[in-house]
Amino acid sequence: MVAWMDSPRTTNGIQAPSFLYGTAWKEDDTQRLVTMALAAGFRGIDTANQRKHYHEAAVGEALQLAFDAGMQRDALFIQTKFTHRDGQDHRLPYDEAAPISTQVLQSFESSLAHLQVDVIDSYVLHGPSTSRGLAREDREAWAAMEELHAEGRVRMLGVSNVTAEQLSLLCREARTPPAMVQNRTYARKAWDREVRAVAKEHGVVYQGFSLLTASPAALTSAEVDRIVARTGRTRAQIVYRFAMHLGMICLCGTKSATHMAEALAATELDLTADEIKSLTDLGSA
Ligand SMILES: NC(=O)c1ccc[n+]([C@@H]2O[C@H](COP(=O)([O-])OP(=O)(O)OC[C@H]3O[C@@H](n4cnc5c(N)ncnc54)[C@H](OP(=O)(O)O)[C@@H]3O)[C@@H](O)[C@H]2O)c1
Repeated sequence: MVAWMDSPRTTNGIQAPSFLYGTAWKEDDTQRLVTMALAAGFRGIDTANQRKHYHEAAVGEALQLAFDAGMQRDALFIQTKFTHRDGQDHRLPYDEAAPISTQVLQSFESSLAHLQVDVIDSYVLHGPSTSRGLAREDREAWAAMEELHAEGRVRMLGVSNVTAEQLSLLCREARTPPAMVQNRTYARKAWDREVRAVAKEHGVVYQGFSLLTASPAALTSAEVDRIVARTGRTRAQIVYRFAMHLGMICLCGTKSATHMAEALAATELDLTADEIKSLTDLGSA
């Protein structure tokens, strides 16, 4: 299966697909697009119980259609997130007056109901509630997530939108450290080199999002154009494949069937060592 090819394993040996289909910003098209992504060959789904940007229940409808059509649950990698109050609008999946640990539990139960599954493969803290260090709310949320993991309702934990310092702190402090980190990957930050280094040190798998949009100058650079000319592949495919060479799982949330097929076919592309170096250097300038 192309979608799982080459993908990194977590320290406890769980493998996630090379691509996760991102379900943000799809609103009433969510079910249709997730169904289309599964048909295209995506086997990893990223969502969140954050109605402001995601429609998790519609993701669940697409999953049920796939299961009804014979898809096995263990053929899919399903990831969702707990989002603090600050990242939500008025459509909350929990009682905002409840303690954070209760909010996590309520959000999680609501995710299971939306997605119509019993177990979540990867449960992610959408982002710390502070830009430096970890706040009491983050520690409380993580402890509640650890309980879900200990009960076997979640196969692994993850964290998103973190600095290298925050990831390092969580890896050192947590009883159950994160197995995944999901971050926006800017070429100008050397493709998030500092966070990737901490992730590598602690055996955490890195997931990159906004690979095509956060770094427009890199996408249209002469280096990428040279590889386009050599391979006949698209810029998007080259960036995705390069990200995989750096050890990343790629988030892709395209709404286009052509772009879905294109993304998955990026795994067929071979980059030379020189090309990988020149793309790496793009972000180090
Ligand atoms: N943890 C977080 O806070 C967070 C934040 C943002 C995103 N995410 C996750 O990451 C997922 C992906 O988000 P993203 O920011 O990486 O953006 P994206 O949804 O993957 O796509 C961004 C843009 O790139 C275009 N695009 C995609 N594939 C292309 C291709 N092959 N060629 C040319 N253009 C292409 C898309 O247009 P088309 O639709 O026309 O292809 C779209 O306009 C989200 O759905 C969400 O699951 C997480």
